[in-house]
Amino acid sequence: LRPGEWLSKKTGPLYAVLSRRIEKGIEQGLLLPGHSLPAEREIAELAELSRVTVRKAIQELVKKGVVEQRQGSGSFVREPASKVEQSLSHLTSFTEDMLARGLKTSSNWLEREIRHPSPDEILTLGLSASGHVACLHRLREANGQPMALERAVLPVDILPDPEEVKSSLYDILERNGNRPVRAVQKISAVNLEAPQAELLGVTPGIAGLSIQRISYLQSGRAIEYTKSLYRGDTYDFVAEMSFPR
Ligand code: GLP
Repeated sequence: LRPGEWLSKKTGPLYAVLSRRIEKGIEQGLLLPGHSLPAEREIAELAELSRVTVRKAIQELVKKGVVEQRQGSGSFVREPASKVEQSLSHLTSFTEDMLARGLKTSSNWLEREIRHPSPDEILTLGLSASGHVACLHRLREANGQPMALERAVLPVDILPDPEEVKSSLYDILERNGNRPVRAVQKISAVNLEAPQAELLGVTPGIAGLSIQRISYLQSGRAIEYTKSLYRGDTYDFVAEMSFPR
């Protein structure tokens, strides 16, 4: 923490530089999960910064979920959340996946609208340019922790009123007799860029998973085209495999 190169190379306010510095120390294993951070006064002396700056830096880490404060005993490095595993062979919804792990889901709505489909959506969902789609853009959370950013697009005859979706999209589809029975999912590795990382509450640049799901009704009609960005540090995808005999 001694002010050296890290402080001279600073970009942005001092508290943000210090908070990044401490976070880096945690990532490098210099401070271990469950261990306490040095006292505010100690950090201020070491880093030659004011206690106000140190306090702000710690608050920043608390906001990010990297550090937790315990009444009367100081600040501690948070234990990393255990990863959620999602099976790659079952066509389940986010809500069902989380429920299976005893986690409560919530969604932050970023967008919910009816609009014309993009050329990509026209091709994928077999629509005409003059048609309409329902678009649901959500930040999905489990027990209050952001997990994924998801933009689902469905033909408007399948989902005429996007406002109807309060929590689970698949619940509504099921209720209307349109629950998909098959899906093709493509997963690719990405680095989460600043705006998305910010919404997901992680440091920009960390690893994420970009997932694209196209799901189909029994009839073979494609009814859902969803693009998601999952945090790489909270999610594992598990595929069960068997040798064909
Ligand atoms: C997963 C899938 C999405 C699907 C969603 C439905 O997250 N990747 O393609 O739209 O589940 O979840 P829910 O029914 O909880 O809205």
